[in-house]
Amino acid sequence: MVKVAFVGCGGIHQVHGANMSKHPDVNIVGHCDVVLERAEQAASRFGGEAFSEFGAMYDKAKPHAVFVLVPPYAHCGMEEAAAERGIHLFIEKPVALTKEAARRTAAAIRRAKIICSVGYCFRYYETVAAARKELKGRPIALATGFWRGGMPASSWWRQMDKSGGQVLEQSTQIFDLLRYLCGEVKEVHAVASTGCMSKVSDYDIHDSSVVSLRFKNGATGSVSSSCVNGSRSLAGLDLVCPDLEVAFKNGSLTLREPGKTTKMYSKVDRFEEEGRIFIDAVKTQKRNRIRSNYSDAVKSLMVTLAANESMRSGMPVNP
Ligand SMILES: NC(=O)c1ccc[n+]([C@@H]2O[C@H](COP(=O)([O-])OP(=O)(O)OC[C@H]3O[C@@H](n4cnc5c(N)ncnc54)[C@H](O)[C@@H]3O)[C@@H](O)[C@H]2O)c1
Repeated sequence: MVKVAFVGCGGIHQVHGANMSKHPDVNIVGHCDVVLERAEQAASRFGGEAFSEFGAMYDKAKPHAVFVLVPPYAHCGMEEAAAERGIHLFIEKPVALTKEAARRTAAAIRRAKIICSVGYCFRYYETVAAARKELKGRPIALATGFWRGGMPASSWWRQMDKSGGQVLEQSTQIFDLLRYLCGEVKEVHAVASTGCMSKVSDYDIHDSSVVSLRFKNGATGSVSSSCVNGSRSLAGLDLVCPDLEVAFKNGSLTLREPGKTTKMYSKVDRFEEEGRIFIDAVKTQKRNRIRSNYSDAVKSLMVTLAANESMRSGMPVNP
């Protein structure tokens, strides 16, 4: 049995906690939250013990693997402390708020040689695997990503020094997917706007942004994001290649070729799939099926940090 514990018992813990509690090879041993009551609620729902300090949980509950499910600003040493103890890590995206924090954690993970999977869950849709297969060896001319929806309820989300804003915190999934499907980003140039959310207290992030992308392989692209309208959430991308258009939207995929249109709807639960593959990797010590490891996830963070810097300076920035 793989002994699993959690750091951070908020919204996404409900998903990973439920998936792990159904997994036949997992024994849930602990939940840690700075708000002890949340850890206690998690323990009563999923089993295991409640803690308010991650070091105490690692030493007492002795997990083999830990899910780190905290907001960007709150990555405060729980990964390094796990790595030092040889505990494997599943970390929710984005992996950090700053380059320095991400590099520190990356070094600790490398040193300890532990298994690490990052929650870029869009990569686990079978529709994304199908798009990747279709795109292999093809030149991509244009990549247009988007995330339009409402503002998540947690108060840290609307504060730049806690979440890093929508691009770093949320549309990071789309930046990551573009890297996964189109290749590495060479340069970003961004504009952003504010003014629609003046009635929301403690709000200092952008309402909307457009980030232009130049890829190393010569393709051009953009990601547009907006968090002002919660009535409909739309996340995806459109890719244009010679004789092929790829449209991915909320998990479904459309491939348009001359005279032929193919539609696919995902049957995979992306959270269940990434959790299952992570536990398999811990059990077998084979990490080849993990689709986002820490060093790869840091590259997506760097692109979004560069986008934020470009929004501030108005200048193009190399990630
Ligand atoms: N992959 C996805 O689709 C997806 C979906 C939702 C959230 N997320 C990510 O998961 C992370 C958490 O999001 P959430 O919605 O669960 O947030 P949340 O605010 O609902 O919960 C975060 C929890 O972490 C706790 N916490 C903060 N600092 C801590 C610390 N030092 N030690 C222990 N606990 C601490 C908070 O008290 C809170 O209970 C974010 O990075 C978010 O981007 C990913």
